[in-house]
Amino acid sequence: MMKIKFKISLLLLSVLCLTSCSKTDFHISLFIYNSSDTFMKGYSELLVSTLENNYKVSTYYAEGSQSYQNDQILNELYSEDNKLLLVNLVDRLAAKTIIEKATSLNKPLIFLNRQPLANDLKSGKNCYYIGAKPESDGQLQAEIINEYFISNENFINSDLDKNKNGLLDIILIKGEQGHQDTENRSRNAIDTLMKYGYQVNILNTSFCDWNRVQAEEYIAKIYDEYQNDIDLVISNNDDMALGVIDYLKKLSTYQKDVPLYESYFPIIGVDATSVGLEAIQNQEMYGTVKNDYEKQVEIITTLIPILINNGSMIDFPFTMDSPNCFQTSGIKISQKNYLNL
Ligand code: BGC
Repeated sequence: MMKIKFKISLLLLSVLCLTSCSKTDFHISLFIYNSSDTFMKGYSELLVSTLENNYKVSTYYAEGSQSYQNDQILNELYSEDNKLLLVNLVDRLAAKTIIEKATSLNKPLIFLNRQPLANDLKSGKNCYYIGAKPESDGQLQAEIINEYFISNENFINSDLDKNKNGLLDIILIKGEQGHQDTENRSRNAIDTLMKYGYQVNILNTSFCDWNRVQAEEYIAKIYDEYQNDIDLVISNNDDMALGVIDYLKKLSTYQKDVPLYESYFPIIGVDATSVGLEAIQNQEMYGTVKNDYEKQVEIITTLIPILINNGSMIDFPFTMDSPNCFQTSGIKISQKNYLNL
């Protein structure tokens, strides 16, 4: 009798689970280009913890290899269990093949942070991109810089123009070659400074692949040559800005009690990662532009149930910036406003 009762309750339990757990049985896979990227770490942690409320989530790291990521993606594309793929590409140009495969298998794809080419994205069925707006990130970096120098007039008539040559002498630290955020952020930051009337002079520039150590090594190599000329460092992200700060803090001239941008020059990043914000609070980094991944996660998690259930986009609450693309605006954070945020 006891045995029968036990079996019945087990049966009831599994029936209960089948109905109430069916939501979480949807399987979603997340592919991240590299596990060591600071910004993507915060992003994927938030994304996974939000998704896990409703779905089974598997995360795969490609460690910078597109062919490795292709294998990971193919595996999941063919898995019956998998409902949707979230892809942070290693190489944006690899999107085309992935889109073709997913479309033929009727699987929705959401690309995040690394943007496929517009034509590739359009060619697919149920393919979307969610990311930042790199053009406005660059413009906002220039706004922060202009707030610091006040105006070109003010800059050239003050000690802020280090070598008194009347030019805004810049070190420009770029992310990865071919990444949409690298060129667009750089170009728009420089163009906007020129519109404000500054005579921009790029002293030196290098790709440092979004990486803190690479940026520290880069500045270490060029610092002696340019140290009396540098008026400003523009970095495509916070981590590389922090690499420059790491270097300056090891110099014998470093003064712990003076804001770093007063002893040396302002350094501006993008992202507002937790380590980036800490550097603003410590008066080491002058400013940054928030790469709003919380909003990007919100867009992704609103889009997923629509795609999984073949729903309609008519009531989707976010506006597309270009076909199948949602891009979040940056937010300026600097010594002027971080305390009020
Ligand atoms: C972020 C970088 C990050 C890169 C990864 C950019 O949008 O600003 O911090 O390393 O994306 O793709």
